[in-house]
Amino acid sequence: MPEIANSMLENINRNFPDIVVITGDLTENGLAAEYNGAKKFIDRIECKNKVIVPGNHDSRNAGYLFFEDLFKTRSTSGHFGEVTVLGLDSSQPELDEGHIGRENYNWIENAFLVNGFKVFALHHHLISIPRTGRGNNVLVDAGDVLELLDRSGVNLVLCGHWHIPWVWRLNDMLVISAGTVCSSKVRGKMSQCYNLIEIDAPESDCKRWHLQVYRVFSRGEKEKVVDSIL
Ligand SMILES: [Fe+2]
Repeated sequence: MPEIANSMLENINRNFPDIVVITGDLTENGLAAEYNGAKKFIDRIECKNKVIVPGNHDSRNAGYLFFEDLFKTRSTSGHFGEVTVLGLDSSQPELDEGHIGRENYNWIENAFLVNGFKVFALHHHLISIPRTGRGNNVLVDAGDVLELLDRSGVNLVLCGHWHIPWVWRLNDMLVISAGTVCSSKVRGKMSQCYNLIEIDAPESDCKRWHLQVYRVFSRGEKEKVVDSIL
């Protein structure tokens, strides 16, 4: 939806984000033309720190090959000041179900052996969310991954998939789902939106982070959904 896409881009750029995390399903069927359109959109986001992971739709029709060409890698880690972001490909070609897999657990554990604010990004859900009916929306190894992230002191998990913005708090970890930014695939009464997350570092005598999360809609309306100390 070009009009909404342009409006969202202007809005995102007005916020001068330090980091942009995109949790997949850039395309419908993983086709070259779809990828080219998505890349043009992402290139217009004015932020030098972008973490992008593929979704189940992006891996259809061997689309993960285009993803690798355009974004270099399907899983990535980055340190941005005091924030570490680890993004993992949870998709499997031609399957809608997500998984991380035991072969990646050591990598995740080691990547989070750092101080600071820790973010894990993936496409699929770690915890089921409302209004998804009988849809299979959680990783097949969600329990093991949740335990690993909790033990690793992860502060924030970002996911996508069902286009339903939602927030769960589990122990000291927030799990935040994204809606859709500019596709027509909104669910129920929700409009296109993105999550704007503001993180304030702890005071010197305190190890807790102040987190504020807003849903931002296409006309720039902001709805605060989280104001938490983690
Ligand atoms: Fe998806």
